[in-house]
Amino acid sequence: MRALRAQPLLQRGRFFSTTFPEIKKVGVVGLGLMGHGIAQTAAEKGFEVVAIESESRFLDSGMARIEASVKKLGEKAVKKGKMSAEDAEAAATATLGRISPSLDRAVFAECDVIVEAVIEDLALKKPLYEDIGRVVKDTCIIASNTSSLAIHKMGAFSGRPAQMVGLHFFNPVQLMQLVEVVRTDQTDPALFQGAMGFAKALGKTPVECIDTEGFVVNRLLVPYLIEAMALVDRGVASAPDVDVAMKLGAGHPMGPIQLADYIGLDTIHNIISGWVAEFPDNPSFQVPASLKAKVDAGQLGRKTGQGYYKWEGDKLAA
Ligand code: CAA
Repeated sequence: MRALRAQPLLQRGRFFSTTFPEIKKVGVVGLGLMGHGIAQTAAEKGFEVVAIESESRFLDSGMARIEASVKKLGEKAVKKGKMSAEDAEAAATATLGRISPSLDRAVFAECDVIVEAVIEDLALKKPLYEDIGRVVKDTCIIASNTSSLAIHKMGAFSGRPAQMVGLHFFNPVQLMQLVEVVRTDQTDPALFQGAMGFAKALGKTPVECIDTEGFVVNRLLVPYLIEAMALVDRGVASAPDVDVAMKLGAGHPMGPIQLADYIGLDTIHNIISGWVAEFPDNPSFQVPASLKAKVDAGQLGRKTGQGYYKWEGDKLAA
């Protein structure tokens, strides 16, 4: 079925389309690496956000991440002369004021969009989607930020497959411009255009994609990262030299080994192991020995301070 071409009208904190109801309230489930960035971006653009977690310690750590990021972006804007210090502080206060942390899934009923960004475990996602499906409005866009799981499975769990899309953001969400907007065979075309418009209202550039392994970016990026690790394992070049080569020879902002550390070696390992199991005959899919060893040793990259490199916060250790 061809998607309807809605004519969206974007306003700060609101999204209207000629074919889809207004979006005002955004639910973000999971305030981890991706979820905190999604909640922050929606709040910065003026949407009312409810940030939902399973335990208050995860809400606290997610909100602390958002505060640190909002502060950093404000300081940067001031330094570049884009804003006065007072305006930056007022904008930060307004952004944080739009985010309501909650442990209560009943708030799903009030949301116009829900973006799920919990860990990539279908056993954990299934009861969550069942809860979502029980309470949401018939017009609510239900979106998963999954990078590797099938969107139609989540649609089936929710019992609302026509309302299900993928909204796949990139890390760091606050800075990366792309969102892959994923439709299944059952996604309602007008709702899909609503999701495209919402991505635009977040200041992002959306690309449309069907429900397939890795969508566009990860289908191309993950085999590249894996091949870089395998190349280091074969002794072709050191990890720093592979990274310098791709930065200076191909114009990439980060080399592949550093990027794998930055994304999280557990995430890369999860994605590639799933593909190896599903497509054992595809030679682009392999688990490099060094990747498995690092994940087994708990050296997951930036998030643990050690992966292929040593990290201090968001930066490589000197
Ligand atoms: N909030 C606020 N500020 C942030 C931030 C955040 N979350 N993350 C980084 N910054 C800040 C940095 O601290 C830095 O601030 P200072 O200048 O004050 O030090 C500033 O932004 C710019 O960072 P850099 O100096 O490192 O400059 P950069 O030009 O290299 O930009 C980058 C950083 C955007 C991350 C860039 O290196 C880049 O594009 N890297 C590639 C990222 C990428 O490919 N992401 C996709 C991963 S794949 C994925 O996410 C999908 C999946 O499913 C696995």
